[in-house]
Amino acid sequence: MKSLLPFLGVASTTLALSIPDTQQILGAFTDFSARETCPQAAKVAAPNDGLHDASHFLSDAVFRSRQAKRLSGAVQVPTSITDYMVDPYDPAFEPFVKFQEYLEETFPLVHSRAKVEHVNRLGLLFTLQGSDTAAKPLLFMAHQDVVPIDDPSDWTHPPFEGYFDGEWMWGRGASDCKNVLIGLLSVVEELFEQDWAPQRTVVLAFGYDEESHGFLGAGNLSSALEERYGKDSFEFVLDEGGMGVQSLGGDDEVVYALPGVGEKGSIDLVMEMAVPGGHSSIPPAHTGIGIMAEILYSLERQELFSPWLHESHPAHGMLECQARYSPDHVEPWLAEKLAAGDAAALGEALASSRGAAVRYLLQTSQAADLIHGGVKTNALPEKISATVNYRVALHQTPDELVDRALRIIGPIAESHNLTVQHDFPNLDLEGTRRQSLLDDDTDAPERTLTLSSLSEPLMPAPISPTDPLSSKTWARFAGVTRSVFESHPNPLASSSKKNPTVVVTGDIMTGNTDTRFYWPLSRNIYRWSPSRVGGTANIHTVDERIRLDVHLEGMMLYYDLIRSFDQWDE
Ligand SMILES: *[C@@H]1O[C@H](CO)[C@@H](O)[C@H](O)[C@H]1NC(C)=O
Ligand SMILES: *[C@@H]1O[C@H](CO)[C@@H](O)[C@H](O)[C@H]1NC(C)=O
Repeated sequence: MKSLLPFLGVASTTLALSIPDTQQILGAFTDFSARETCPQAAKVAAPNDGLHDASHFLSDAVFRSRQAKRLSGAVQVPTSITDYMVDPYDPAFEPFVKFQEYLEETFPLVHSRAKVEHVNRLGLLFTLQGSDTAAKPLLFMAHQDVVPIDDPSDWTHPPFEGYFDGEWMWGRGASDCKNVLIGLLSVVEELFEQDWAPQRTVVLAFGYDEESHGFLGAGNLSSALEERYGKDSFEFVLDEGGMGVQSLGGDDEVVYALPGVGEKGSIDLVMEMAVPGGHSSIPPAHTGIGIMAEILYSLERQELFSPWLHESHPAHGMLECQARYSPDHVEPWLAEKLAAGDAAALGEALASSRGAAVRYLLQTSQAADLIHGGVKTNALPEKISATVNYRVALHQTPDELVDRALRIIGPIAESHNLTVQHDFPNLDLEGTRRQSLLDDDTDAPERTLTLSSLSEPLMPAPISPTDPLSSKTWARFAGVTRSVFESHPNPLASSSKKNPTVVVTGDIMTGNTDTRFYWPLSRNIYRWSPSRVGGTANIHTVDERIRLDVHLEGMMLYYDLIRSFDQWDE
């Protein structure tokens, strides 16, 4: 994942839950009235297909130790990526070749029975061809690359040792996301070991630059898939991400399974200024750096963004679930404010109550991240540039943000006689603003401010449907998820021996995953590493690790999803 996931849950407490017991909840789950909040899909039991039970992964000691070795071996290959690796034949990609050799040795059945293709040299595409060509295939994604290490001596165990302490697997990529990639391949290997022959085609697509730009891997994989299968051709797409699996409550635990069903958009606004130079001893009142500072100062103070929580936002549904199933663990006013339907008031109340991670699910963020200018203390700066990163909230568009920036920057530029140019062709800037900004009869041509975006602006992702009544795919996906996570006690809670109640509800992500390239392929895109919060740690930083139990639970989900969709006739 490109950024740390916000944790939506309020702090877990040990208070007993005053929620309906499991029986009542199950009753409520099946009672779909029109105005019901947080409707849940019926549980979907694993099919009677003669294959062993998913619980085998968690309970079989031999399997566990083999899985620890598989994941450790994958962590040991340092598939780090930097932003400067833009050619698949860059020698820095050599570890990826080793990584793929490791996969071939470790998963012989996958490599002999699936069709294995390389896309743009290192993108990996596995096709498990099903016999039923009318059934839409399933697409599972992961990425082979990991973020680089800053200082290895900061780590408790060397980052590429793949050290397993009996509980935790330590190392770069252990939880982002070699656990996903190895989990998927292990599950398919396990299916083939039992002579499974798919009816519904399953595709695994593993990019290799998700932590950079994603163009080499997912960018090329997605176009290859679209060319082969067409638009809207996959039953669902499941990638890493999401808010994991979060628990509220003690013994009467309610477990929230939180796939990401949307993502914010993004745009990097680049501002490049050119002004005449000269000797520092005879400066103008404001150098180019001073003007750029005024621009950034104003962007951070004018027309500020606000949180907005409309009922169409997936977090709204997630919060309704918390209010319904964990009322003692949420703000006492939550249910009332959700029902009142004032998107601005609700957004602000939640952002204030839950902090920045939640605020930025609900509002656009703005961060001035880069600035350059000046070469010497006796020469005035001639070229000054700055880049501001925006993560676009669901109710806004990148164009709106550029429009706002131009509104703020325009008068400043004008007061300094700067000609503003931009290359946003889609932007509707008809009328006076555009006229005055581009009016060049007052401005000297050597004083310019050019606005552009670093790469193609990204709209907020389309929201994948999560109503079990109208989306059969979601109903089945959520039903399998409930079955898997209700089948055993939380392995992280040493005291709890009861199987939990599971609520499945979508949410969104503030960061972006490789799925940004996959929108045309399916209406049902789920970004979800099915890992319990508390069972993974330190993604993108020192001491990244994952509990082996959590990795195994994720495999249970992949295994049962493949089986439950295999013969499903919607
Ligand atoms: C495919 O990869 C090439 C580089 O190998 C890159 O230039 C191009 O943008 C990628 N295509 C897509 C659709 O992202
Ligand atoms: C801008 O141009 C006007 C008219 O040419 C001039 O009077 C003014 O001093 C200029 N200001 C700056 C900051 O260059």
